[in-house]
Order: sequence, then structure tokens, then C-alpha cells
Amino acid sequence: MSGNAPLKRLYIKTYGCQMNVYDSERMADVLAPLGYGVTDSPEGADLVVLNTCHIREKATEKVYSELGQIKLLKQDKQAAGGAMTVAVAGCVAQAEGEEILRRQPAVDLVVGPQSYHQLPELIARAHRARGERLAADFAPDEKFDALTAERRPSGVSAFLTVQEGCDKFCTFCVVPYTRGGEWSRPAEAIEAEARSLAEKGVREVTLLGQNVNAYAGDDGLAGLVRRLAKIEGLDRIRYTTSHPRDMDEALIAAHAEVPELMPYLHLPVQSGSDRILKAMNRAHTAESYLRLIEKIRSSRPDIAISGDFIVGFPGERDADFEATLELVREVDYAGAFSFKYSRRPGTPAAALPGQVDEAVKDARLASLNALLEAQQRAFNERQAGRVLPVLFEKLGRHSGQIIGRSPYLQAVHATAPDRLIGQIVPVRIESAARNSLSGVLDLETA
Ligand code: 5AD
Ligand code: SF4
Repeated sequence: MSGNAPLKRLYIKTYGCQMNVYDSERMADVLAPLGYGVTDSPEGADLVVLNTCHIREKATEKVYSELGQIKLLKQDKQAAGGAMTVAVAGCVAQAEGEEILRRQPAVDLVVGPQSYHQLPELIARAHRARGERLAADFAPDEKFDALTAERRPSGVSAFLTVQEGCDKFCTFCVVPYTRGGEWSRPAEAIEAEARSLAEKGVREVTLLGQNVNAYAGDDGLAGLVRRLAKIEGLDRIRYTTSHPRDMDEALIAAHAEVPELMPYLHLPVQSGSDRILKAMNRAHTAESYLRLIEKIRSSRPDIAISGDFIVGFPGERDADFEATLELVREVDYAGAFSFKYSRRPGTPAAALPGQVDEAVKDARLASLNALLEAQQRAFNERQAGRVLPVLFEKLGRHSGQIIGRSPYLQAVHATAPDRLIGQIVPVRIESAARNSLSGVLDLETA
């Protein structure tokens, strides 16, 4: 981790056996990337962990009495404007569970011996419960932020934030720590904003959220889409980014039934290996993702699927990477973003063993990209000869040329008068490159 991160003080009290001593060291290791350094006194500590043992009689009572002392220290720290997080780990945590939180409200979290790798997540959740964010501890990662923030400056297509935050805690990702929990804007506010955009000439909105399909207002994202589809002048609706586990039946049905909802879906999978998906805490398997894609395609057969991939996640072996390539072959993507795993301080994966060599990551990224680029090109080439409705957005680089988007989000170049900017016009696609299509106005259907 970076040397200038603010050091937070971690006090771990270890009871009992050698096993617990070992576990306490592991906890310190997992917490080090979060900026915690071990201290030998609970006084003034930012995080206190009691790693308990109940082998001896009355051990549980002893823990409660210790917690009574910790509670006073916590109150002192709060009185001084600070905050202390109190965690109970080990066998007593296992045996007593939630009972500890009921008996001693100064305890923020209880973690059993099987879950130490989740400590960063549990601590972030405890901080959230107090209304704190960890943002200051993380350098913003422009590369990943840029993806969601990517804006197409244009008067006819606009982004509209409907949801923020993330409750998924993928082990590689800082978002749940930096952006906080999932939160949805009220549908009425979104509708009002969409109406005002439409009045200003916007024809297309892209609904934005880190977990946009977890949108919790108005009968979910499907309900919101149906509501916005009724707005006069708003002809195209898109949304990004989605998580596979929130891709519900209603949203899948909307793709078949709502003509304004564009046939494009960004649905990151990250890996095709179940072992790695589990270590990533993705809560889906390769198989369940493939079945989901199948379902979506039976609702909207022509839908363009895109995804995000991470290569070189800790512990990723050749066979895991092969499984990713295999999944990509099965899905046949229209486009994708792929990344080399980058170690983000404070995330559980940063502390995992088996970090992958940079050279191996480079090689895997290159072969994954080669496959994805070939699929993207093939997807584009399949449009040749078709007539697609194109929403023209801006002038092209060459004079006389204008640029718009197909329903599948492909850039389309055409030689056409600039008064067509802001209109949806049928274009006969003549040729395709990896990143764009070219065509001519289709006057027969126009
Ligand atoms: N390393 C590499 N890629 C990452 N992403 C998020 N965090 C990391 C990381 N630590 C990628 C994921 C996500 C996209 C927005 O950024 O693929 O879907
Ligand atoms: Fe949440 Fe997406 Fe990050 Fe996973 S990758 S934690 S779903 S923002």
C-alpha cells in the first residue's frame, strides 16, 4: 500500500489457543491494506478486535466484562470527536452470534472464524451504519471511474443518474467502500428530469447507476423504464451498469415489450471460472450467467451483449483463464472492457495470496482482447446490408458526414445533411470496422 496512507490503530486481544494467535495475525494481515497498524493498547484505538475463545468455563462472561471496559473507551473516543469500531471474533462470536450485539450495543460487528476475509466488508458496513464513508482512504481510480462517467457530449443523448452505490462487495472493487450503499432516486424526480431533457431536444437517455438494475423505486428498473418510455419525444432508453444477480424477469420482459428500450446490455461477468468467481464474491457461476444470457436472448434475440473482464485475479491459473475464454466463446460478445487485475488497498483481494505476475496478466489480457475484438468486429460485420434506425448526434470528422448510434450502440457514419442531427433515420449499413459502421440514408424506407 502507499506509504503515506493515514495509519489507523488496530488493537487485537487474543484469547486462548495457538490457533487464535494465528487467526489474529491473519486478521491483522487482511486489515493492513486498509491502513490499520497494530497497537498494544485499546485506548484510543480506531478498531478493537476481541478474538475470543470459549474453551474454558465462563469465557463468554469474561468477554462481556471486557466489552464493558471497551465500551467506556469507545465513549471516551466519541466524546473527543473520534470513532471506535468494536469487533468480536473467534469461538465466542461463532457460538453467540447476534446475541452479542443485543447484549452489548457498543459492539459493531461479530465475525466467525470462517469469515475473516470479509472483515474489510464488515467494517465498511459498520461504518456505513454510522453514516461514515471511507472515501478519504482511497485514491480515486480514474480508470474505472471514467467508465461509468464516460459521457457522450451531445444535445440529443443524455445521461441520467438513477442509482448510486453498491452492496455487492466484489472482493477486488473499491466502490462499496468509496460510494457507500445502494441508493435509488425517487422515480418522480427522475421522470421530471427526463421530461425536462426531452423538452430540450434529448431523444435518448442512458440511466446510470453502479448497480442500475438494482434500482429500488417504482417497481424496479423495469417499472422506471416503462414510465419513462411514455414521455413524448424520448424515443430511446438505455441503462448501465447491471449486475447479473439483479437481472430480474420484469426487466428481461421489458426488453421484449418496450420498443424504446434499446437492444443493448452491459452485463459484466468478470471471469468464466467458478473458483475465481467465488473468490471475487460475485454470487453467480459461469453456468448461471450463461443461462441468464440465454433467457435474455430468448426475450430479445438480437440484443447486443457487452461485458467487463478481469484477468490475473489472485490465484487465477491457466485453467481458470481458459474457462474465461470458453465463456466468451459461448456468449459471443458485441463489445467488452477487459482489465488486468489491479491491487486496490483496502479490498479483500489485495490481501489474497497468489498475486499473478504482471507478464502473465499482460499475456492473458492480450489473448482475451484478441478474442473479444474479433467478436466485436464480427458483430459489426453482421449489420452490413441491414437497414438500422440511427439517432444522429453530431458532425463527423469529414465534411458532409454526420455520426449517430445504432440501436446496438455502434457508431454509424453517413454522408447526410446536418439538419438530420437529432433525428432517427433509417440507414442502410454498407461496411463495418471494429469500432464503427458506415452507411447511406435509406430513402426507400425514410
Ligand atoms: N482491478 C481490475 N479491474 C477492476 N474493475 C474494478 N475494480 C478492479 C480492479 N481492482 C473493473 C471491473 C468492473 C469495471 C468497472 O472495472 O471489471 O466491472
Ligand atoms: Fe459493486 Fe460492480 Fe464493484 Fe462489484 S464491481 S463491488 S458490483 S461496483
